[in-house]
Amino acid sequence: MNSIKSDIIEKLIYIVTNRCNAQCHTCNLWKKNHKEEIRPEISLGRVKTVFTNSRYLRSIKKVSFTGGEPFLRDDLLDIFDFFYHFYECTFSIPTNGILYDRIDAFLDNIMKRNRIPDLFMSVSIDTLHLNGNDRKKTKFTDSILKSIDIMKKYRIPAGVSFTISPYNYMYLKKAYEFAKHRKLIFTYRLAQIADYYNNTDIRFDWKPDQLNEVKEQIRYIIKDKYKYSSLDEINSNFDYRIYFASRIVTNVRNPERDFPCYSGRRSFVLSPYGDVYPCVMVFDSIGNIQQHEFDTVWESEKRAGMIKKISHFDCQCWTECEMLENLEKNIEKKQYLKRCAKELFDFIQ
Ligand SMILES: C[S@@+](CC[C@H](N)C(=O)[O-])C[C@H]1O[C@@H](n2cnc3c(N)ncnc32)[C@H](O)[C@@H]1O
Ligand code: SF4
Ligand code: SF4
Repeated sequence: MNSIKSDIIEKLIYIVTNRCNAQCHTCNLWKKNHKEEIRPEISLGRVKTVFTNSRYLRSIKKVSFTGGEPFLRDDLLDIFDFFYHFYECTFSIPTNGILYDRIDAFLDNIMKRNRIPDLFMSVSIDTLHLNGNDRKKTKFTDSILKSIDIMKKYRIPAGVSFTISPYNYMYLKKAYEFAKHRKLIFTYRLAQIADYYNNTDIRFDWKPDQLNEVKEQIRYIIKDKYKYSSLDEINSNFDYRIYFASRIVTNVRNPERDFPCYSGRRSFVLSPYGDVYPCVMVFDSIGNIQQHEFDTVWESEKRAGMIKKISHFDCQCWTECEMLENLEKNIEKKQYLKRCAKELFDFIQ
């Protein structure tokens, strides 16, 4: 392993708040609302100081602001502005869409600039088809549709995002059609259990026939989207996002990571309280930037130990926010690309 000091950080996932105004089946971040009220979020002033002082934080190319619900942060625009001026990078913001007025005001501000930011926004629609107490007793469907209209009004790259769980798997295809009809990018993944989602006390008990149905719906989506049918065409137009989707079910049945993971090396997660984590799945803090400068945290023994474990394949996952970049990196290797193209070809037969 190269010296950990030579790691080049390309991506930041900044959880700007753990607060949330919805209640989802798959994510219990909203349950933190009460007890977390007493923990102050790291101030933007401190974030600015730490990022400006760091030698390692110069090369970031992708920033994702997530939560909780990011639009609950009153200073989200100021946070965005700091990163917008400090880096030449792309941004992404997922939202539950409830605070559509704030989304409108945010986009109105940033889209008037001379240099239009490279921003992708997505609205989560995992619970669009569900009734009952999910996503709180708000006019949730209305908010989703209004938020989508707002994103379209500003002509930003926009998408809808669907987290597949035993509660909603039967609507995957419908959600895809919803996105397609509105010319929105459709992203999807299987619900995970992780500290980040504050859901380690629940289980997703997938029955074999449910997983089969998920697989069939994914096959339908891929076949509908993917124009290339011969192996050669798949090879030369390989799309790692589509490959990621094709392995979603296989990875529940046989979790297997057959390539290196660069989380904690090329990317990291910053919590609302300043904790630095290698990825959204491993919530073991490497250090805290309220107390230490980032470079001290990045050079720590703790990170060295953690990335050693990661490089020894001690953990594995199939999470979209982490694995897409790893896949993208790994398919630069011709042999690996060839194998993945064949797997994808077989999947859509
Ligand atoms: C945690 S939310 C934060 C942003 C915003 N509140 C939202 O819902 O879009 C980010 C994404 O995680 C997804 N998600 C929720 N529960 C999940 C789980 N258990 N595993 C994986 N993704 C999950 C949501 O659907 C959403 O697209
Ligand atoms: S998925 Fe998003 S909206 Fe739902 S509880 Fe989690 S943070 Fe809140
Ligand atoms: S394999 Fe998954 S859990 Fe392990 S470090 Fe990478 S992203 Fe995190």
